[in-house]
This record gives sequence, C-alpha cells and structure tokens, in this order.
Amino acid sequence: MSERVFIFDTTLRDGEQSPGATMNQKEKIRLARQLESLGVDIIEAGFPASSEGDFRSVQAIAEAVGNVQVAALTRAMPDEVTRCYEALKNAKNPRIHTFLATSDLHMREKLGKTPQEVMDMAIAAVSRAKSHTQNVQFSCEDASRSNREFLVRVVENVIDAGATTVNIPDTVGYAQPQEFYDLIKYLLANVKNADKAVFAIHCHNDLGLGTANTLAALSAGARQAEVTLNGIGERAGNAALEEVVMALRTRSNLYQLETNIKSEQIYPSCRLLSMIIGQPIPPNKAIIGGNAFAHESGIHQAGVLKCPETYEIMTPQSVGRTGNDMVLGKHSGKNAVKARLDEMGFMLTNEQVDVVTEAVKALADKKKEVLAEDLEAVVLEQVFRLPDKYKLKYLSVLSGNMAMPPTAALVMEADGEEVKLSSFGVGPVDAIFNTISQLTGRNPSLLQYAVNAITGGTDAQGEVVVRLEEGGKKAVGRASDADVMVASAKAFINALNRLAKKEEEKECDRV
Ligand code: KIV
Ligand code: ZN
Repeated sequence: MSERVFIFDTTLRDGEQSPGATMNQKEKIRLARQLESLGVDIIEAGFPASSEGDFRSVQAIAEAVGNVQVAALTRAMPDEVTRCYEALKNAKNPRIHTFLATSDLHMREKLGKTPQEVMDMAIAAVSRAKSHTQNVQFSCEDASRSNREFLVRVVENVIDAGATTVNIPDTVGYAQPQEFYDLIKYLLANVKNADKAVFAIHCHNDLGLGTANTLAALSAGARQAEVTLNGIGERAGNAALEEVVMALRTRSNLYQLETNIKSEQIYPSCRLLSMIIGQPIPPNKAIIGGNAFAHESGIHQAGVLKCPETYEIMTPQSVGRTGNDMVLGKHSGKNAVKARLDEMGFMLTNEQVDVVTEAVKALADKKKEVLAEDLEAVVLEQVFRLPDKYKLKYLSVLSGNMAMPPTAALVMEADGEEVKLSSFGVGPVDAIFNTISQLTGRNPSLLQYAVNAITGGTDAQGEVVVRLEEGGKKAVGRASDADVMVASAKAFINALNRLAKKEEEKECDRV
C-alpha cells in the first residue's frame, strides 16, 4: 500500500525570489490556476509583509483558486503573522507559514538572539497563527546546519503550540542525501509529539542535490515535499516538482509513495511558467527539456522503434508532451480551438477563446501546422499579456551586405498616440531597438537577447527573450512570431511595458 505525499508548491514565493522571475498579479493568478489543475496540495502564494504588491497578489490568489490550500509566508513576528492572515483570510483553506532560523550561525550572526529567545519567538508566532487558523506551518530555517538536540526541542514546542506541519529546510543546499535521510529519521524518532504533525522538507539546489535530498527525506518518513516548477528559486533554485513527482512515480516499486499530481499537466505547467518569466527551459533539463525524450544515436533510435522501454523510462505523453501533434489549421473553428485549449489545461472565457481562434487562423496563414507549443505561445501573447502602454503596429526592416546600414522603420502606439520613425543600427535587431528607444524616449541597457525556435522546421515561430535594465529596474520581455524581427520588436516593447508597469506599481505602493 502506497502512502500519500503532499506537494507544496512554492514557485510563486521561493521561485519568484530567483533573479528575473518576477511575475505580475495577473500572471500569478494564471499560474496559480494552472497549479490547481496540476493537482498540487498547497500553493505558497507569496510573502505578504514583504510589499504591498505581494500582499495584494496573495489576496487575489486566495480568492481566485478553489479547494487547494493557499499558504503565505511570514517572519515569526506576531504582527506580521496577523498581516499574513489578513491577506489569506478569503481562501477556502488558508495556511499560515511562519519561519525562524535555528542554526547557531543564523541565530548569532543574523538574528543576534539566544537559542531561548528564538524558542520563545517561534512559540509566540505559532500561537498567534493558531488564533487565526487551524492550518499552521512552522519552518526551522537552516535546519540542516542546526544543532540536532535544539532542533528536536524547537519542533516539539511548536507542535505543542499548534503547528500542524513542521518544515525542515536545507536552506543553503548543504546537506548530502544520506545525511539528510539520517536527520529526518532522527527527528521522527526523537520528537515526542512527531505523530501530531506532518514533517516537510524544502531542499535548495546549491550542490545540485535538491531532488536527491528531497527523495532521501521522503524515504525517511517526511510526507510533504516543497518544490517549484522548473526548479526555480533562490540562488541555484529548489527541488524541481517535475523531477520529484516523476521519480516517485517511475520508481514507485522503490518508494511506495504517491502524490495527487496529474502528471499530464506537468509539461503545460512548466511551459507556462517558462513563458511567463521569459526563461527558456534548458534542452537537457530532466522531464521537460527539449532533448529529454529525443534519441539521437542510431542504436538508441533502433531500440526505441522496436520497444520504447529500451531507452525510455517514462512516456512523453505521461508528462503531457504532445508537442509534435498537428493540432489546428486555418479551417479550425472555435470549438476545435476550445477543445484543444481545455485538453491543455487552459481555462479561458468565451471572449478569450474568440481572440485565440482569430490569432490561430492568422498564424495558420503563415505557417503550415499550428502545434501545441504554438497554441501556448498564442495564448500567452493574446490573453496573458500586460495591458500595454506601448504597442507595435507596423515594422519594416532592411538589412544585408549593401553599403547602406541596416534600417528599421516603425509605427507604434505610445500612450494611445500613433508615432513613427526610422533609424539605423549595426544590425537589424540593433536598428529595431534603437528606433523603439527613440520613439518611446527611453534609454534601457540590453542585458540579454535570446532567440529560440518554438518547434522544428524553417517556418517555426521564433520566441525572443529580451532582458533590459533602466534606472536600476530590470524587466524581461518575451514574444513569439513567425518573423524573428517582429518577435524581437515585440519582445523589446514587452520589456518596456513591464518596466513601465513596475514604475506604476511603485507609484501605487507609495500612495
Ligand atoms: O529556504 C528556506 O529555508 C526557506 C524557508 C522560508 C522555508 O525558503
Ligand atoms: Zn527556500
């Protein structure tokens, strides 16, 4: 008989702390709904006391999702705990997640507190949280470097104070699998009231061991895994949801543990995150990378043709990779588009399906086949894009090896007004970016420019990611189009719109 493991997804909190992964409220809600379709048990929606924007996002997510538990993080300070609950209180099933460091190093150098003071703070925070909700989680930050006897006492006390989940994080990714297994076994054996709480683990990936440590701790008896999509998170990231879940499933003979995850929703969820934050998935990334199911060598190809299990330990379909199926064409009507969107886990309104159908028809005029990935790109482009301050209307680019320098001519909308200009650059992309900067009166530095083909073939849509910095603020823009120059212009404009949005949010926070 398999035992149940709870999946606590922290993509929207720890994940969002990773450089370049900031999401706006609309994007967070979209991702939270997708996490619900994926079947996670708990969504950690944010850290309400960290900013007004985070508070509002947690509030909005709490209201937007159904029965899935919604957690939010708070420092172990009673007033912040109450503020955290304020953000969560409209959730059907709110969880307050409070944390405090328990290692000697953190207590001494970071907190400047004695172990007894830390113990008192932990108990007071959990008691305050308990006065708001039954569902309370306490995390012993830097647990893997904490003194074991002290850790046992903290865990016992917070459970007595009402914590229903205790989390043992490997905050700095220092632990080794065998050592982490032993730590969880030790805690389960020595904490007197261990049967009154679920033991969770939260493993960072600094030594590339996030998934290995998570699986070791689950083998030792932990029953909640804290993970993120694509493994994003502070520094080198967190254990990746897709890796932990598929390891448990593929090796169920070994672990005998099961989750509630609908594995066919894994790939759509990871792609959605990648599109929202504008960070491409590396080709060799386990489960979700472009090469994860590709067989290059002749011996492997021959083996897979005879019997897929020779080189495939799971099927691409089991993780929702339907990428090469021809899904839609220019004669596809609204019903076909809607059916495909539903299958892919996109829950769109009637009006949004109309918009996507029109865009699919326009794309099918330019490109022979509209594949699942194309459809995802269209959805992001047409439905989940920020309300734009700047918009591209027309673009024409001249480049080649003539005497004339590469030239871009653009017509744009800026704050509702039509503006046009042409100017030069050292290459066509430089010409486009220069012209847009002049038209919008902005002067960002380009930190990164990347082009990716969404599917195979010379008619593939190009996906462009642009990272900009202006006045100390950074933003990522992404866009896709059958024409790479158009995608480049749109991605640059998307990043400028995000910079403009950040400026607006800053204004709101000040009010
Ligand atoms: O890494 C960590 O210790 C955390 C805690 C706040 C759970 O993110
Ligand atoms: Zn963390």
